Amino acid sequence: MKTSYYSLLILSFIFTLPGCVEQAQENSAEQKPMVHEQGNAPMQLELPDNLAGVLRQEMQLLEKGMGELLGHIVAGRSGDAAAVALKIEKSFVLKQALTQEELKQLVGLLPAEFITMDRKFHSDAGALAAAAEKGEFRTAMKLYTTMAESCLACHSQYAAQRFPKLAH
Ligand code: HEC
Repeated sequence: MKTSYYSLLILSFIFTLPGCVEQAQENSAEQKPMVHEQGNAPMQLELPDNLAGVLRQEMQLLEKGMGELLGHIVAGRSGDAAAVALKIEKSFVLKQALTQEELKQLVGLLPAEFITMDRKFHSDAGALAAAAEKGEFRTAMKLYTTMAESCLACHSQYAAQRFPKLAH
């Protein structure tokens, strides 16, 4: 039971299944969040080394994927654009890199708003994949812009030390 529940989470990079996330957060309620809550002020997401490493790896792949995706959209490469967007939607790293215990730990440490932003980002990637598959490149580009804005928004809010010039 637990195993299938966590593999569901893993498959979706945690964040596309709202009910499960809430449940997982309750499950790990005993864990103390390691972020410094400051209302909406920019903050640095602080994770233990193992999880921070996985997040950074994920981010580097995202950066690379977004570059490729832009190239495919502007060249009208439907299949390639959809394939990269789907990879982003499902996410690259976490499903291979995290043990169940680490995943539980991660969900317990992430602020709810971070999860919301991440979930939106991944669902936009799914919508982009669908648009690209249909050859709707203008829609795909609008979604691409929305996704890029999510990068900036999340970094401004949650990576105040990593990207100090974004924190204001
Ligand atoms: C929901 C939040 C969130 C979203 C969305 C997000 N990021 Fe990040 N990203 C972070 C956080 C938090 C860090 C800082 C991690 C740290 O402090 O080591 C980060 C760090 C990074 C880094 C630096 C990694 C390193 O090696 O230190 C890159 C590159 C990056 N993000 C790219 C992107 C791109 C490109 C996008 C959008 C396509 C994106 N991120 C979307 C939260 C997010």
